[in-house]
Amino acid sequence: EKAGYDHFMLKEIYEQPKAYRDTMLGRINTESLTVSLPELKLTKEKIAAIRKVHIVACGTAYHAGLVGKTVIETSARIPVEVEVASEYRYRSPLITPETLVIVVSQSGETADTLAALREAKKHGAHVLAITNVVGSSVAREADSVMLTLAGPEIAVASTKAYSSQLIAFFLLGVYLAETLSTQEQAWTKSIVAAMLSLPEQVESILENTDALRTYAESIAEHEHLFFIGRGVDYAVAQEGSLKLKEISYIHSEAYAAGELKHGTLALIEDGIPVIALATQNALLEKTVSNIKEVKARGGEIFGISDVNEVKALGKAVDEVFGIPATNALLTPALSVVPLQIISYYASLARGNDVDKPRNLAKSVTVE
Ligand code: M6R
Repeated sequence: EKAGYDHFMLKEIYEQPKAYRDTMLGRINTESLTVSLPELKLTKEKIAAIRKVHIVACGTAYHAGLVGKTVIETSARIPVEVEVASEYRYRSPLITPETLVIVVSQSGETADTLAALREAKKHGAHVLAITNVVGSSVAREADSVMLTLAGPEIAVASTKAYSSQLIAFFLLGVYLAETLSTQEQAWTKSIVAAMLSLPEQVESILENTDALRTYAESIAEHEHLFFIGRGVDYAVAQEGSLKLKEISYIHSEAYAAGELKHGTLALIEDGIPVIALATQNALLEKTVSNIKEVKARGGEIFGISDVNEVKALGKAVDEVFGIPATNALLTPALSVVPLQIISYYASLARGNDVDKPRNLAKSVTVE
């Protein structure tokens, strides 16, 4: 059932190109480069009446929501808040009937997420569920359901479910922009065209993972590691950090690159590994200056950037991994892949049970 792979996690990482294709299939018109999402069950009038969006989820699904915020705010110009479900439900959030509440859950059974959904419905919000499981509790109780078509995810560490949630947010962002005319058609079409290339681009990353494996083996001896990035790179950094902690048990923290000097820089000493995401070309110069701050304190930096920027970054870092070039908003669907691979091989090198990390369960049905 592992189809020749040593672990479910590795199999699921390699299933991402298919998961992307399946999640886009039937929702993208490849000729007009437009998106249709009848499953939202929202008329144009209802969409126009949305004043704010709340994205509520736990763990990795919450990290997908952080990317979703940037996607929706950029494309639809509607303010978005993202919150972990266990906090959201206990603080009387300001939910009105003009709030669109998006709950994100791979399993559709996470107790805190389900409780947040019920809270939102109680206040009259329209609840949209982004979930991977048809007929799950979250799917049954939401007003509308957008399925990620990643297929069953067995490994405790979420990989293809996360990245398919990103695809769902891209589709949603484009659809909202089309409906509200908040962006030029040329803009939405260029996003859709770039989305269609993502499956092949992931395949190209997965073709040769030797450098990632070697790097993973080198960090396996460390106890602490940092991830840094700006914008959506920061959101992906948080996901990469969770993945690493979850299965390798290496302590790691993700920081917004510009925030380091406000305290965390004190922790950087000789030989500390730092993974720097720098895929946002518009922010590259700023990120490079943060990288230099780390380098000057002895940090060993592994950079991840767009292939076109590898040279520019190469001088500032110890090692660099290039991901295929795409639209700046879509980079998380590519940049997360090397981070998944690094976590996998670091866990393996430490002799851990990759698919069943200690203390964790696949579905968290207690609050
Ligand atoms: O099934 P859900 O998406 O609701 O699960 C939420 C989290 O428990 C889950 O993403 C968890 O953080 C993963 N084990 C991370 O890999």
